[in-house]
Amino acid sequence: MARQARKVNPDGYIHARDSDEYQRLRDQARMWQKATEEVLDQVGLKPGMSALDVGSGPGSVMRLMADRVGKQGRVTGIEIDGKLGAHALADLRAEGGAEFELIAANLLELDAVPGGPFDLTFCRLLLMHMQDPVAVLEKMQAWTKPGGTVAAQEFDFGAIAVEPPCPAMAEFNRVFEGVFRAHGRNLRAGRQLPAQFEAAGLGLPDGTLAEAKFLPLKDMASMLIGVYQGLFASAAELGIADTTRAAAFKSEMAEAAEDGRYYCLTPILIAAWKRVA
Ligand SMILES: C[S@@+](CC[C@H](N)C(=O)[O-])C[C@H]1O[C@@H](n2cnc3c(N)ncnc32)[C@H](O)[C@@H]1O
Repeated sequence: MARQARKVNPDGYIHARDSDEYQRLRDQARMWQKATEEVLDQVGLKPGMSALDVGSGPGSVMRLMADRVGKQGRVTGIEIDGKLGAHALADLRAEGGAEFELIAANLLELDAVPGGPFDLTFCRLLLMHMQDPVAVLEKMQAWTKPGGTVAAQEFDFGAIAVEPPCPAMAEFNRVFEGVFRAHGRNLRAGRQLPAQFEAAGLGLPDGTLAEAKFLPLKDMASMLIGVYQGLFASAAELGIADTTRAAAFKSEMAEAAEDGRYYCLTPILIAAWKRVA
């Protein structure tokens, strides 16, 4: 019988919540910054507007929002991890550039959001972690002004690969897919956005954008090792990882990165957006 997954985090989040994982989220945010900036620009985020980032993590998207709404604008984040949210808010306020608020809460338990409704309600890499992404999009719609925009940007893991095939990547995929599937997480969140927008009553998106990268493995290896480490506790609880295997993975991935022959096709980051009637 399949072993029942216990929860590493009480809210069911499958990644670690520690300083290494927080740094990985910041590194990941830097990697995808341009793709998110393009979405914020295409949806017309302008000076003086209000923007909400749902599942705001280290606050990297809030910073990009602030760059666009400016000092007369407002940027609010919702983040269930109070420690991460508090750090993000302190950093954002220290740097300034807009009015910032952070709501430390489980978005699923929020009805109204202080400061709402917003000109833009956005989430990045959040729906892929949700059991019911349509319910989250319904909330995001309710938190958006008429004439405002709901936008989401999610990974699609359908094409992620290392070429030529390498054993370390096979181990990465085994653990990554094992944890995601055991916890009912979605590996195809990106491509499913249009159908989810429609199911949430938003209608089909006004626009979509997709970006992937094809990089020498040396430029992706530390991210892949970081993801593996961040999922290790969840994987160990499921009985699909142990410290010996993890150590072997880490050294094999580092070795492959040094080799120079290997290239990595990243997940595709897919965005969709819709103006709210
Ligand atoms: C993969 S991270 C992405 C962070 C950020 N959006 C970014 O792209 O840099 C997902 C974030 O959503 C937060 N989160 C997960 N479930 C949540 C919930 N139910 N309510 C609020 N935040 C949640 C996690 O704590 C985490 O910080």
